[in-house]
Amino acid sequence: MANLDWGNLGFKYRETNVVISSHYKDGEWSAPVASKDFDFHFSCFAGVFHYANSCFEGLKAFRGVDGKVRIFRPDENARRLQSSGHHLGMAYPSEQMFIDMCVMCVKENIDFLPPYGYGASMYLRPVLIGMNPQLGIASSKEVIFCVMCSPVGTYSGAASLSTGTAAISRDYDRAAPNGTGKFKLAANYAISLYPYNMAHEQGYRELLFLDPATKTRIDEFGSSNFLAIKGNTYVTPLSDSVLPSITNKSLQAVAADLGMTVEKRVVPVEELAEFEEVNACGTAVVITPIRSIDDKPALAGSEVTRTYTYGEKVGKTSEKLYNMIRGIQDGREQDIHGWNLILD
Ligand code: PLP
Ligand code: COI
Repeated sequence: MANLDWGNLGFKYRETNVVISSHYKDGEWSAPVASKDFDFHFSCFAGVFHYANSCFEGLKAFRGVDGKVRIFRPDENARRLQSSGHHLGMAYPSEQMFIDMCVMCVKENIDFLPPYGYGASMYLRPVLIGMNPQLGIASSKEVIFCVMCSPVGTYSGAASLSTGTAAISRDYDRAAPNGTGKFKLAANYAISLYPYNMAHEQGYRELLFLDPATKTRIDEFGSSNFLAIKGNTYVTPLSDSVLPSITNKSLQAVAADLGMTVEKRVVPVEELAEFEEVNACGTAVVITPIRSIDDKPALAGSEVTRTYTYGEKVGKTSEKLYNMIRGIQDGREQDIHGWNLILD
């Protein structure tokens, strides 16, 4: 077992034992191999460097209360990677190959799987990148699929579930109308870096992006989906430019199991004033309650015109949802939907 401060991991890169990779060339994937070499060796003309021929995933493995190792919904991540890879015109792994390589990654790096009881997990980062040399704009014919991992705690770096602040991004979009927002492409994150840097300099933890076509509806946070609580209703945006979050999908099922009404629909910006609790949700952030959202016409150099507030503490319903999904992942709650892949 690695000697780490399991209660204070935060969300950052730590080198583990190995990375698992497979190479696609001439219509075939090579047998996955575990390597201690964390560097890629391929041409500086590879498409990934020039045209962002790259997509990725994020999922977690947990050490349960019963000592068993669970990976949360890897089949969903496999299918989402396939849709991203297909959009980029690249070869992509089968669902089984994706899952097998994730399992291999967890097993080969088991010393880095956080023990139960620290609220920590092993974050798996599968990436699919185009590697053949090219000059013109084209989909990559040769591809590397690689699964790496890092032990992580909370995304915010706080010791436990804590609230954060956000600003509405009115003058920068992360996705274009009819663009790539619904795929997990590396390019989407590059687009968000500039406004994120600005927001972080101003002390905001998150950026809330609007639908890029009309800028009147809520889309999602730059790192995660948007979910709000209104009475006994779970509200989350329906939009073509939002990443279909597996956490959000799971929480919707959990909310329904708890007797809540689930509404996936258009969410006008002004409705922020009617919500009792607002959260970011995703694999990295799990559920992160948002205590305030500032609206300003421009991210830099303009005054806040309105602030929506949701209280300093974690909301009651959000906490219930958080405890339920974390309980399922840790084996403390019954996995009635069969979401966990339990390793032998
Ligand atoms: N939205 C964005 C932009 C993300 O980067 C993520 C993280 O993967 C999510 C939503 C949440 O998706 P998931 O719950 O599948 O991790
Ligand atoms: C995830 O939640 O898995 C993501 O990919 C988001 C990123 C901010 C780490």
